[in-house]
Amino acid sequence: MKIRHRQGAYPIIFTTLEVAREAVPAESFVVTDSHLSEKYVHHFRPDLPTLVVPAGETSKSMEQFDRILNWLARNGMRRHQHLVAFGGGMIGDLAGFAASTYMRGVPLIQIPTTLLSMVDSSVGGKVGIDLPSGKNLVGAFKAPTTVYICPEVLQTLPDREFTAGVAEVLKYGFIMDEPLITSLSKLPLMPGDGRLTEIIRTCISHKATIVERDEMDTSGLRATLNFGHTVGHAIETLQDFQGLLHGEAVAVGMATEAQISESLGLAPPLTRAAITATLSAHNLPTAIPDELSAKDLVQAMLSDKKSTGDGLALSLVGGIGTCKLRTGVNVDDVIRSIDELKRD
Ligand code: GLY
Repeated sequence: MKIRHRQGAYPIIFTTLEVAREAVPAESFVVTDSHLSEKYVHHFRPDLPTLVVPAGETSKSMEQFDRILNWLARNGMRRHQHLVAFGGGMIGDLAGFAASTYMRGVPLIQIPTTLLSMVDSSVGGKVGIDLPSGKNLVGAFKAPTTVYICPEVLQTLPDREFTAGVAEVLKYGFIMDEPLITSLSKLPLMPGDGRLTEIIRTCISHKATIVERDEMDTSGLRATLNFGHTVGHAIETLQDFQGLLHGEAVAVGMATEAQISESLGLAPPLTRAAITATLSAHNLPTAIPDELSAKDLVQAMLSDKKSTGDGLALSLVGGIGTCKLRTGVNVDDVIRSIDELKRD
């Protein structure tokens, strides 16, 4: 599979970790996280300089970004050498952002190791870091030279991480692929599931269709991939990136945004119930954490990049399988919907 972008195209190669690591060019630099380093670093490419970043979303920070840049400079990385992001979404975003800025850009190889990063963040070129006031507020578009998908690494993924990744799989169904939801509702996706490789392929091809038509996120089409993310990012920000995992926050966000959609008359009745039932069948959370008020959430949502100043911008489903970016969504309507949901 190939993803076309404004400067060319890059392949998505489905393979094994063994093949991917042998394919990494000599003289590359590797960035990974502390969980993976325990599992793989001695087997990955011990011949290559490797920087280990603490696992967890809090590392998607200015501090770790600065650390990577200085490590590359101290170790004499040159412009033709590749930076390999070997890890989940945090590593892909953080190392990818370093690759987009170090010496004005060095080639980037993505080897995603979580379900979430395989189906979403490693594809499409968005890279970046968080600020205390919001998720992904600093970043760039940086197309990788190659993405290697090695489904076998999912076998050692902790159950909670796997389940969080399923939220992004279901998102594709909710926004554009009703049959995917029908089939996953009959038989929820589990670690080690024989359908995984095919499902990852389906999700990446959905993402390719979208990013090839709206790479720079300007027409509103790519924004539909953010269904559940405006509320999800607000939850992560208010929890200082130390509460729900990204995929879990997105699951709560999808249930919440489905309610907003229904309240605004944009989705038929029972859309939220159907979305919530599918998420729950996959052991994903759907309730807004008690300690977060509707007002605080909306305040955090206003710092989302899509927000334009005249209300909120939200990607809202029009039922299962369709989604559209809506701008100027009234803040009081959103607070009312969230309060309704919290009372339920
Ligand atoms: N993860 C959403 C996007 O790539 O646009």
